[in-house]
Order: sequence, then structure tokens, then C-alpha cells
Amino acid sequence: MHGVERVGVVGSGQMGGGIAQVAAMSGFETVVYDLNSGALEKCKALHDKLLARAVEKGKMSADDVKATKDRLTYSDKLSDLHESDIVIEAVVERADVKKDLFKSLVGNLSGDAILASNTSSISITDLATSVGDAADRFIGMHFFNPVPVMKLVEVINGLATSKQTTERVLALATAMGKTAVPANDRAGFVSNRILMPMINEAFYAWMEGVAEPEHIDEIMKLGMAHPMGPLRLADFIGLDTCVHIMEVMAEGLNNPRYRACPLLKQLVTAGRLGDKTKHGVFRYD
Ligand code: CAA
Repeated sequence: MHGVERVGVVGSGQMGGGIAQVAAMSGFETVVYDLNSGALEKCKALHDKLLARAVEKGKMSADDVKATKDRLTYSDKLSDLHESDIVIEAVVERADVKKDLFKSLVGNLSGDAILASNTSSISITDLATSVGDAADRFIGMHFFNPVPVMKLVEVINGLATSKQTTERVLALATAMGKTAVPANDRAGFVSNRILMPMINEAFYAWMEGVAEPEHIDEIMKLGMAHPMGPLRLADFIGLDTCVHIMEVMAEGLNNPRYRACPLLKQLVTAGRLGDKTKHGVFRYD
């Protein structure tokens, strides 16, 4: 059993907001913390919109939506996470920022609280060094965007993660309506180890003039039954995030084959980051 009643989420962006929404919908008292109150307001507005749409579609009753909202707290005070049975971190993909956060939290949580990171590629073993003796309660819980839709949680064990922590998190992910699949702690884990080289190769194919971007995507959608083509998906994920994950893998796996395609890097340099800047490979007007 997971033994979790209260879920704390750090970061109210796309991933943190999605995780908090799913936790609250699954019956957990949920606090979503962000030091940026503007981001919290946006997160709440998106929750309101998505939950209202669920009622319109007949997927949730108005009572369920009210109960979900009652379980959700938005806070810009870190201390509001102190009662959490698990804290799931979904902040910027920087090891130093994540470690500082866990360092300031760990001493204030109960002695059996789980510390989870939603990192998409940074070493769990490395992040766990920030929590000292609590490293056995540290684990990777990698959700996928859009969190309310995607079924997978990739559960990553660090070197010190205890069996009990893994079992609790597998049970928790199931209670959140997800399918949890375990992976070990190698850069990129399984998901990005396989997804990112495919996306990177699509940029090479575009750079080398093998086909136009829309044709590359069409071929992969229709021929491989992917819901989005790799270039559309790269925009959805964020081109800067794709470069970052490739760099983490190139360094962590010590293999130059994971170097980001020059064209992908050039778009990032130009500020074309994808959906979030309304221009990446494609334009979103
Ligand atoms: N939040 C909540 N629900 C959302 C949503 C969001 N942001 N975006 C779409 N949805 C819901 C819609 O409401 C709709 O729900 P209903 O079926 O109940 O009507 C459903 O998803 C389908 O949406 P649409 O009809 O608008 O569009 P679609 O059929 O094209 O699906 C998609 C959109 C679900 C995003 C689909 O294109 C898809 O699965 N794309 C691939 C996504 C993917 O690969 N994600 C993983 C990225 S990698 C990652 O996250 C991790 C990493 O480490 C990089």
C-alpha cells in the first residue's frame, strides 16, 4: 500500500499542474506550490477550464469537480508542503535547483515521506545526494504530457531507493489511474533514451533535405501510427528541453551519438522553442 493521503507538488507549470490535477481528481488532498504566484494563477485557471470541459463532456459530475477543487490548494509558501506524505518535484530541469529544493524540504517532512522527482533525464542517484539519509525514500516519478491524458508513469530507482519506496510509488501511480513501469537510473531512462534520438534524427532528416518538416511528420504519423509527428512532438515538448535531454544523455552515457542536431540547436538559439513561444519547427498563431 502507498500510505499516501496528502500529495505535495512543487512547480505549477505544464507538468506540475497536470500532476496536481490528476492527484486531486484521484482523491488525494493536494497542495501545489510555486514561488511565482502568477504561475499559480495560470495553473488554477487551466484546472478550472479543463474541469469545466470534463463536465460538459459528461466525463465528470459537477459534484466530482467541486470535490476535486476542494482537495486542491495553491500556495506560494513552501511550508504548506510540510504535511505531505509525498512531494513530487516538477521544477526546471536543473540539478542544482532541484537539489536546493529537496535540501530545504527534507528536514521538515515526516520521517517516512517520499521524495519524488519528475525529472525527464537527470540522475536520480545524483539528486538523492541532496537528502542525506533519506536517499532510500528518494525516487523518480516521470509523468508524460499532457498528464491527465497520458497513462504512463516511468518509475526510476536510484542506487539507494528502497524496495518499500518503489512499491509505495507503484501503488500510488496505480491509484492515480496510471500504469507505472519501472526503469533503472541511466541518463534518459527508457522513454527519452528512445524518444529523443528519434526526434533528433527527424531534425537531421530535415537539415539534410530528405523531406519537408510537414512530410517527415506525415510519414511518421501515417506510417508508424504515432499521434504526432516527431517534429510536432518536439515543439510540444519544447525544443530547448529536447536539446537539454540530448546533452544530459551525451554526457551521462558518454556517447557522442546523443549530440543534439545542429539545426535543432540553431532554432533554440533563435528563440524558436516550440508551442511556448508560438514558433518552433512550425508556427502556432
Ligand atoms: N490537458 C488535459 N487534457 C488534454 C490536453 C491537456 N493539455 N490536451 C488534450 N487533452 C485531451 C482532450 O481534452 C481530449 O479529451 P477527450 O478525448 O476526452 O475529448 C483528448 O486529450 C484528445 O485531445 P484532442 O482531440 O484535442 O487532440 P488529439 O486527439 O490530437 O490528442 C494529444 C492530443 C493527446 C496531445 C495527442 O496528440 C498525443 O497523444 N500526442 C502525443 C503526446 C506525447 O507523446 N506525449 C509525451 C511527450 S514526452 C514527455 O512528456 C516526457 C518527456 O520527458 C519529454
